[in-house]
Amino acid sequence: MTDKNVLVLGGTGKTGRRVAAGLRDRGAAVRTVSRTSPVRFDWDDPDTWEPALTGADAVYLVDAQDRPGCWDAEQCIGDFAALAVDRGVRRLVLLQARVTDEVGGKLLIAGERAVQESGADWTVLRPNWFFQNFDEGVLLECLRAGELPLPAGEGREPFVDCEDVAAVAVAALLDHGHAGRTYELSGPRALTFAEAVGTIAHATGREIRYTPVTHGDYVDELVCYDVPGDYAVFLADLVGQIRQGKNDTPTDTVRRVLGREPRDFDDFVKDAALRGVWDL
Ligand SMILES: NC(=O)c1ccc[n+]([C@@H]2O[C@H](COP(=O)([O-])OP(=O)(O)OC[C@H]3O[C@@H](n4cnc5c(N)ncnc54)[C@H](OP(=O)(O)O)[C@@H]3O)[C@@H](O)[C@H]2O)c1
Repeated sequence: MTDKNVLVLGGTGKTGRRVAAGLRDRGAAVRTVSRTSPVRFDWDDPDTWEPALTGADAVYLVDAQDRPGCWDAEQCIGDFAALAVDRGVRRLVLLQARVTDEVGGKLLIAGERAVQESGADWTVLRPNWFFQNFDEGVLLECLRAGELPLPAGEGREPFVDCEDVAAVAVAALLDHGHAGRTYELSGPRALTFAEAVGTIAHATGREIRYTPVTHGDYVDELVCYDVPGDYAVFLADLVGQIRQGKNDTPTDTVRRVLGREPRDFDDFVKDAALRGVWDL
């Protein structure tokens, strides 16, 4: 049990919800915030930052990367981290991504220096693509429709369970020994999208397939669905990282931090299929 008081940003999101649950299990006082929470937190509205921070001694920090051109992550996270430290926060755990190249003109690890220079104890999490993109995120609707077109070629990605990312975040927020660490978090195996979708098709008994498409065709397709052009390029570049095998080596970080293996994609798919998430 702990007497820590933790602010969780992105509290409605895939990791934020799980981090909050894990913290509560450990007895921490938790405030989850986002643009839709009773205590509202909006990266675009700095007036909302201070009320959210009231009483917090640690923060799980999720940025809003998905808005190319809309914000300066380093500046924004730096301003927020400075305010947090000034208001008594002593520990910052920042969620970034295991993508060190620029994608769509953006650096997904742009917030790291801001927390490293904040004066608080910091831990950075750089996960691979989440399992939960398949059952609650960006890939779900295509999978339900039976075809997932992506410019990922036959590239491999060691997808990781948000439960494992959240468990590492909880450890970093509450336990000793994680300050000053950057954790690259993956699942146990690197899979192609053809293999991942094949696993889902097998578990559901449905015909669902992965279709490799070109970067250009993918951007054109997204734009047809009214996705803004710069965001379409950002997404295509992000998937292109997988096609190029940029981060395809599994890491042992989950095991080192949690003392157990990360969850396997097959187990995740079995559970999600039982819940009927990919049924029509
Ligand atoms: N998805 C992946 O596979 C993956 C892999 C590695 C790293 N990441 C990183 O994880 C982070 C979150 O991405 P995600 O796709 O998984 O999303 P998510 O955490 O599932 O959802 C985003 C969260 O941020 C909140 N939010 C969005 N815009 C906000 C704003 N302007 N101000 C305050 N809160 C805001 C949303 O809540 P409201 O809508 O209620 O405001 C939601 O709680 C990103 O930094 C991403 O780079 C994702």
